[in-house]
Amino acid sequence: MLNFEFCSPTHFVFGKDTEAKTGALVKQYGGTKVLIHYGGGSAVRSGLLDRVEKSLTEEGILFETLGGVQPNPRSSLVYEGIDLCRKTGVDFILAVGGGSVIDSAKAIAAGVLIDGDFWQYWETKTPVPASLPIGTVLTIPAAGSESSHNSVITNEKTMVKRGTTGQCLRPKFSVLNPELTFTLPAWQTASGASDIIAHVLERYFTNTEDVEVTDRLCEALLLTMVHETPRVIENPTCYEARANIMWAGALAHNNVVGVGREQDWATHALEHELSALRDVTHGAGLAVLFPAWMEKALPHNPKLFAKMATRIFGIENTGDDTETGRLGICAWRDFFHTIGMPSTLRELGMKEEDLPYMANRLMLKKDGTFGNFIPLTPADAEEIYRACF
Ligand code: NZQ
Ligand code: ZN
Repeated sequence: MLNFEFCSPTHFVFGKDTEAKTGALVKQYGGTKVLIHYGGGSAVRSGLLDRVEKSLTEEGILFETLGGVQPNPRSSLVYEGIDLCRKTGVDFILAVGGGSVIDSAKAIAAGVLIDGDFWQYWETKTPVPASLPIGTVLTIPAAGSESSHNSVITNEKTMVKRGTTGQCLRPKFSVLNPELTFTLPAWQTASGASDIIAHVLERYFTNTEDVEVTDRLCEALLLTMVHETPRVIENPTCYEARANIMWAGALAHNNVVGVGREQDWATHALEHELSALRDVTHGAGLAVLFPAWMEKALPHNPKLFAKMATRIFGIENTGDDTETGRLGICAWRDFFHTIGMPSTLRELGMKEEDLPYMANRLMLKKDGTFGNFIPLTPADAEEIYRACF
């Protein structure tokens, strides 16, 4: 196991009606003037925004509102939010929505304190040093931004999508009410579930040996997602299944399952190019790409793939790790298909000419590769894109 430090200070408030506590939580974490940031309308239609505003008013907390965050959040709204906060003296950012809203809120929270252009930190993946405090009321389990120290933004001028980090970007609190996810369309539920699974797989495929405790924690989350996702697709108002998925989403990305081990993240890098270019839904892109990446990575460590196949899908080891591992990859393909995810990039609206273009836009390490489990070159990236085109 590698040396590590782990600090996940977010205060989670989980369960039915918990959004009513938002005002008290903002007060507890020092907010006096809040920017409520939200998306394209689901939080308005469900009445959630009204309930959150009421809870702030009851605590005597003033607020501004800024809606309109779109999936794959754009830099232009971040600039607008930064201006609004500076002009009105906002000292706390409250995100009401999904990963896109939370990431936009984080960028605003950091941008207010940055002298110059916030985008320079995102473009170069430079950790941000400081931000206003952030709170979240989550409406879709997916990105894990409610527990992570990341934020991913698309610069629509250059169509470049990049994420940065910063311990200050971990929310002070996150309100997780599974009932708020009942209204999710099946496509968003399944895309979100695929993203949660991908966050675990990016950590599971590691070159670090003897990390049994985090292996087992990863497997617990994967087994939960494989079991619960079809249940909510079948029955969108199943509270218990929604609750398990919501908590899995937060645990999948606060890094409790990733400490002490090298992590990969090649598939996320491959996906961000799809989202940047053709506005693909992040989780759906991952559902297509992950099995293709696995095929490429299988020869590197067939034993680990066989372990995944037997422990997650109960596949009997045939005595040949490569063959068993391949059955595990097929099982992931079948699973993503069962929950309604596409299996090709073409179905996601990608064009064949996009493939070399995206492969050459990937951000590379100094040695010209990306990813860690197997270092990949742009040529490898194009091969993976073509394999699932
Ligand atoms: O905008 P509204 O109207 O709210 O609709 C949203 C949006 O269209 C809808 N939705 C959300 N909650 C709903 C709902 N519809 C009905 N009922 C509800 N309760 O769902 C759509 C998708 O929302 P979005 O916030 O985009 O989803 P998600 O949470 O998957 O976030 C995706 C973004 O997060 C980034 C992705 O790259 C992508 O930009 N990620 C952020 C990470 C992080 N900060 O740690 C890590 C991830 O790997 C990921 O990259
Ligand atoms: Zn993700």
